[in-house]
Amino acid sequence: MKTVMITGCSSGFGLEIARHFLDRGWSVVATMRTPRSDILPASDRLRVLPLDVTDAQSIAKAVAAAGPIDVLVNNAGIGLLNALEGTDIEVTRDIFETNTLGTIAMTQAVLPQFRERKAGVIVNVTSSVTLRPLALLSVYTASKAAVNAFTESLALELEQFNIRARVVMPGRAPSTRFGENAAGRMPAAGGFHQAYAPLLQNVLAGWAKDPSPTTRPLDVAEAVWLAATDPDCPPRLPAGPDAVEWAEAA
Ligand SMILES: NC(=O)c1ccc[n+]([C@@H]2O[C@H](COP(=O)([O-])OP(=O)(O)OC[C@H]3O[C@@H](n4cnc5c(N)ncnc54)[C@H](OP(=O)(O)O)[C@@H]3O)[C@@H](O)[C@H]2O)c1
Repeated sequence: MKTVMITGCSSGFGLEIARHFLDRGWSVVATMRTPRSDILPASDRLRVLPLDVTDAQSIAKAVAAAGPIDVLVNNAGIGLLNALEGTDIEVTRDIFETNTLGTIAMTQAVLPQFRERKAGVIVNVTSSVTLRPLALLSVYTASKAAVNAFTESLALELEQFNIRARVVMPGRAPSTRFGENAAGRMPAAGGFHQAYAPLLQNVLAGWAKDPSPTTRPLDVAEAVWLAATDPDCPPRLPAGPDAVEWAEAA
């Protein structure tokens, strides 16, 4: 039986990815900052472990407790919608600590076992904003574009050990807690820069009236499944109809 370890399973895409792999008979190590056993179906193939991807000790403990795994899905991430002028450098560091360095640190932690076994897949969840620049997302986009570039270079050095590294780029998914979580961080981040308030109104109004379909967590789970199981999967896979459209246009 194959085993997948997934970061950020408390909600949204991570929760759906965990369900998807469980439904397909895999052993699942679902990690969360605050572990909850009541949000996934009970199964003797499910383990829920604590993991904060910004904490080196937490990473070492979770990877040791998980034991051998076949696939790592780096899904944990945080968002930020603000003008750069309104974005304190410490807030910028937090975004990169989670989205970029968290992904790199988790990857480093599992590579020795993948290399020794000459097998393994790393799937990094980034975003369709790396395909088409959007206003007020400069720091978030930079943190995810760095993961795209990191993954593509890494894939080349890991080929010799039969280890694959793939990127999944979801489109906009209003149904997850992502926007709410990002908005919740705004007061601590100093609030929105007032000089850019009219631009913010335009951006939000544009999203509200945009008739294009958005991305469902299931779209992302299906793309991650493909990236994890199909050796012929492209190195960058858009997930969700909006992301597919942007990838085709890019
Ligand atoms: N929703 C979108 O529109 C969208 C679009 C493209 C890409 N994405 C990306 O997709 C991924 C999942 O997002 P989502 O939409 O499912 O959002 P979500 O519902 O907010 O889920 C994010 C998950 O990441 C976890 N997390 C945050 N910081 C963490 C840390 N330091 N260590 C471990 N886990 C941490 C959260 O855990 P807590 O419950 O502990 O906070 C939560 O489980 C993210 O990487 C995001 O950037 C989202």
